[in-house]
Amino acid sequence: MNDLVSITLDHAANYDEWRAVARRLLAAGVAPERTGFRHASSSADLFDGGAAILTPSGNTDRNIRVPRAFVGLARDVLCHRDGSRFALLYRLLWRLSENRRLLENRADADVYAARRLAKAVRRESHKMKAFVRFRRVESESGEAFVAWFEPEHHIVERTAPFFTRRFSGMRWSIVTPERSAHWDGRSLTFGDGATRNDCPDDDALENHWRVYYASIFNPARLKLNAMRAEMPVKFWRNLPESRLIPELSRSARREQYASRSGTAPSAATARRLVASQPGMAMPEVTSVNTLDDIASALQQCSRCQLCKSATAAVPGEGPAHAKLLIVGEQPGDEEDLSGRPFVGPAGKVLDAALEEAGIDRKSVFLTNTVKHFKFKPRGKRRIHQRPNVSEIESCRWWLDLERDIVSAPVTLALGATAARAVLGRPVKVSDIRGRAIANDNGGVSLVTIHPAFLLRLPNQAEARRQRTQFVNDLRMARTRSEQSASLL
Ligand code: URA
Repeated sequence: MNDLVSITLDHAANYDEWRAVARRLLAAGVAPERTGFRHASSSADLFDGGAAILTPSGNTDRNIRVPRAFVGLARDVLCHRDGSRFALLYRLLWRLSENRRLLENRADADVYAARRLAKAVRRESHKMKAFVRFRRVESESGEAFVAWFEPEHHIVERTAPFFTRRFSGMRWSIVTPERSAHWDGRSLTFGDGATRNDCPDDDALENHWRVYYASIFNPARLKLNAMRAEMPVKFWRNLPESRLIPELSRSARREQYASRSGTAPSAATARRLVASQPGMAMPEVTSVNTLDDIASALQQCSRCQLCKSATAAVPGEGPAHAKLLIVGEQPGDEEDLSGRPFVGPAGKVLDAALEEAGIDRKSVFLTNTVKHFKFKPRGKRRIHQRPNVSEIESCRWWLDLERDIVSAPVTLALGATAARAVLGRPVKVSDIRGRAIANDNGGVSLVTIHPAFLLRLPNQAEARRQRTQFVNDLRMARTRSEQSASLL
């Protein structure tokens, strides 16, 4: 009965492959109830041979517009292990053509199911970022790092780019039972999975971890049950620091532990050790899944020294579904006191330029590269200091999380500090201003000047010229964010 269409997808979690199929089905008017999706690894033939076969290749020229939120949702849902995910997404897509506001109805069974799957995937991806620990290995071509990880969902491709930004200068592999990711310092490739025995078990890095963890350990904040709930035992097993916890929790005070063990590293020494080691991505075992989680976890952050002198960390601000994410350098004096980004003099310049470019500040997610104010006291004043590379790198943990959650199609970096953090390499703003650089969530990054630069220009004519160009850069970011918004 050839009314039915059977689709076998080669990849477990490939958005482009699913998208190509979905576009063809939609263009041919194939209703969801006539389709049967399966992944190549599953043996079941849904229609018992009685269906037309649609291969994933081929495409259609038709422009299919969907709400932007659908694209992000689909990318996440596809990474879930649930066998119904391909069909669920096609059903949603089909229904969206009749009701463009469908995704807003959270009580709808399909919307609810898709959101639940997407949330589980995001959570698993955060866990991978937090709990991957690299071990050093020597190979014929030199030093490399290998980590073993056991994710529940198909998140390796989705999450590996995070590690390329974080550990761009080293060669590493992350091995999982299904897939492995390899970075040679330039390109990211993926291969088959392997077994735990294929990976090294222990090395000197573990010791650094343990020293570091001991130095930041705070028994008053230890919540073993919460940690266990957060961190399934399979992750727990692979974490060197987890072996310390029973002993540390018996020790009432950090000092007692230090004097007994004889290690007594200063927090600064341990932090330096950790910062110099690959795999030391997450100093504290915390669960951070939403922007609110970030805002509160940030207040505990001691990844660098800036927390000591700043009033409070300043988290990003704006809607989680923003199409445009703007990254500044760091909070200034007024931001530090108010706890909000861009409320001081540079913020006023930015606000005016946003308005001129037709961008509603409330629609943008606005954040900073470094979340604590860095300054030198001079009399009663606090003089802004540029964050250094290690502070930028330490704080990228938070920026990457914000970018991951917001997943805006356009990220705009203001100035060289933000550009470095967003692109993961040092750049000269004038060299790349106005160029759209593809990033790993399917969107683009743009770079422009920092608005504070306009305040510093002594020459009025030059200031006017730069400001006009700045507004144009903002316009370009707006246009791109609107364009990329809704094409399936
Ligand atoms: N400059 C920035 O880069 N960010 C702020 O929040 C304020 C000033």
